[in-house]
Amino acid sequence: MDLESTLEATQTNINWEIESFFKSAPPLRNSADISEKLENFIKRNEMASGNGGARRRVVCVTSGGTTVPLEQRCVRYIDNFSSGHRGATSTEYFVKAGYAVIFLHRRGTFQPFCRSLPDDPLLECFESIDGTNIKVHKLYSEAVERAIAEHHSAVKKGFLLKLPFTTIFEYLQMLRMIALSTSNLGPNAMFYLAAAVSDFYVPWQSMAEHKIQSASGPLNMQLAQVPKMLPVLRQQWAPKAFLISFKLETDSKILLKKAVAALEKYKMDMVVANELLTRKEEVVVVTSSENITVRRDKNAGVDDVEDPLIQLLVERHSTHINTNSSSVL
Ligand code: PMT
Repeated sequence: MDLESTLEATQTNINWEIESFFKSAPPLRNSADISEKLENFIKRNEMASGNGGARRRVVCVTSGGTTVPLEQRCVRYIDNFSSGHRGATSTEYFVKAGYAVIFLHRRGTFQPFCRSLPDDPLLECFESIDGTNIKVHKLYSEAVERAIAEHHSAVKKGFLLKLPFTTIFEYLQMLRMIALSTSNLGPNAMFYLAAAVSDFYVPWQSMAEHKIQSASGPLNMQLAQVPKMLPVLRQQWAPKAFLISFKLETDSKILLKKAVAALEKYKMDMVVANELLTRKEEVVVVTSSENITVRRDKNAGVDDVEDPLIQLLVERHSTHINTNSSSVL
């Protein structure tokens, strides 16, 4: 077999795996509602201008971990670690930079503009007076006011669309919908894939319908591999978009090697490499020509590593748009 035929066969195989993943996934319950929200959001931003009068850019930020249900009427599931802090914080900086953000996030994880609130904001930020009226606790009044004002302004101006997922099935179907709906934006669209996506799953048809009984003894289960979506995102769903994937490792010795391999294999524009323990302090942005270390520096007023990170990505996105804009539409 020559190289071209081998590549074609590999491609056919990837497409088949992805097709069968989507065919066997339980359909999204609210897909018409999501479609409508997406269409309105894209329409509103497609025509709008962003910073400096240029076309407004749209970024899809994915955030939080996907779950893999073990039963169709799910009682147990396998989870992927991610608090959603990276995605929520990055969303704030993208909005600040004039981007319209589609925040595809795991239900119950960190939300943009709410990071300075306590874990249970409803119960901790408010207090009851005389058992009839409720007011904001003075300890939190500034934080609550800021969160509400910033969130409200972003949504009202059409800068923020929040779409929640829980399972791997929901996440991948929604990512595909978003990618296809941004195709008219060409290089003005960006994907910032910070979600921790399951690598293995139980196919819906082979999943137990009811709660698996512990009386049946130890559980043996074979998990299928979730097809990688990065190649199809690059080649078919959003070929002109600026694509940033993430690489998380716990062993610093293999991190950069794996990030470089992902950049080349999946033809990403950038890969953000981070280590679990230091992920809030430092990340390395891997591109085809250089590795750029980005750090937070509280002494210099840089409270979040996402602040310089998003500045760098916005700059590189501008170059991507300038290089590719002749082929837009
Ligand atoms: O949320 P925090 O607590 O703040 O933590 C942030 C983070 C550490 C989760 C984040 O910075 C991060 O690194 N996210 C990616 C973590 C990850 O699990 O990567 P991965 O090696 O599973 O996947 C690498 C890339 O492949 C990802 O961009 C993913 O979108 C993509 N992928 C993964 C599986 C799959 N089937 N298809 C994919 O396309």
